[in-house]
Amino acid sequence: MSETVLLVGGGGREHAIARALGDSDADLYACAGNRNPGIAAIADGFETVETENPKAVVAYAEEVGATLAVVGPEGPLAAGVADALDEAGIYAFGPNEAEARIETDKAYQRRFMREHDIPGCPDFETFDDMDAACEFIDDYDGDLAVKPAGLTGGKGVRVIGDQVTAEEAKEYLRDSDYDRVVLEERLVGEEFTVQAFVADGDLRVTPAVQDHKRAYEGDEGPNTGGMGSYSDSGLALPFMSDEDYHEAVSVLEATVDALDDYKGVLYGQFMLTAEGVKVVEFNARFGDPEAMNTLPVLNTDFLDVLTGARDGDLPELSFAPKATVCKYAVPEGYPENPTAGAKVEVDEESAGDAILFYASVDERDDGIYTTTSRAFALVGVADTIAEAEEIAEDALAVAGEEGLDVRHDIGKADLVQQRIDHVAELRGE
Ligand code: AMP
Ligand code: GLY
Repeated sequence: MSETVLLVGGGGREHAIARALGDSDADLYACAGNRNPGIAAIADGFETVETENPKAVVAYAEEVGATLAVVGPEGPLAAGVADALDEAGIYAFGPNEAEARIETDKAYQRRFMREHDIPGCPDFETFDDMDAACEFIDDYDGDLAVKPAGLTGGKGVRVIGDQVTAEEAKEYLRDSDYDRVVLEERLVGEEFTVQAFVADGDLRVTPAVQDHKRAYEGDEGPNTGGMGSYSDSGLALPFMSDEDYHEAVSVLEATVDALDDYKGVLYGQFMLTAEGVKVVEFNARFGDPEAMNTLPVLNTDFLDVLTGARDGDLPELSFAPKATVCKYAVPEGYPENPTAGAKVEVDEESAGDAILFYASVDERDDGIYTTTSRAFALVGVADTIAEAEEIAEDALAVAGEEGLDVRHDIGKADLVQQRIDHVAELRGE
């Protein structure tokens, strides 16, 4: 039977999914709040839809005769889009609203870990009274991470002793309108991501990726959705051992065992600390940018992964033994005061050997415009991180960065070495 796939979401991650499905034997339709020109060019049809409205997504899915759907971002998952598609008889690769709480409710996520004895859970407390949370900060011996329980696009966490002082953290809580926060032990180490495809209690893991959350070079500035990322030619990253990677995988396995009926991507954000691998958080979807590292090296047909997930027969995965480096161009001032509505001039031909992924831009009759979020990314794929970095960097130079910011340091030898030295120092080597 030929498949018709509906892709929900219009970011860089979804462009990577569209590209992975582009060569498959499937008809591809896509919907998003913004018109992503990269996805629109690949898909047989593209509709601007309010993707957090389950009825609107189902209506488009039915109109195009979708047999399968992939839900990219967390917003639609939190709004029950996967539930609505499933109810309409269209298998959605993405968890239902209740299972997505592993991402959408950080208090639930930590309680879930504690209840099911999932390894790698930091000490934590949850609060619905901000004054009580502030008191806890005063009384706590050590640094804490302050995390709003709900979705904040990766921008809500404040880490005491790193980004803010205890006084600033308390002020942040008092000035906020958060109704629930998690305060947890500050983890110190190197972060990495491992994503897994999950269905029917089975999981298939993908190579580790390191994202760069901070806005400015040298890991300075506010947290963002992620400025860029890299992966190595094997499963682990240069600062970690294969055992560290497998420790993270065993956390994902324990989590999938504890979840009832999870389907979609389970994303583990880990911290490699002096005491081993700890969980920073789980996401209920591919990472953005991490999907742009992972999908270009997936040799297995992504359509086979989707149909396998639906039909209870998840295939084994094969990856090209290649390193990848992804660099995002973001509107100037992102994330705090991004200049939306600026025209982006990207000469697609000049991306050279790099892969160009469009993200939160909007294609109009007279060109492509920025929104308030990340604009486009360039990804290099090569035998080594250094070569992949050069490919991404060269392509950025020709894409034109006017009105845009880029972290040029991502994937460069200096920064990768700093990560290696950091872990060696933590381990007392
Ligand atoms: P999250 O939204 O949970 O991914 O958090 C965003 C970022 O905050 C993470 O990528 C970490 O850099 C940082 N973070 C979150 N939790 C902790 C923690 N317990 N200790 C240190 N940093 C953390
Ligand atoms: N790159 C972090 C995220 O997708 O949440």
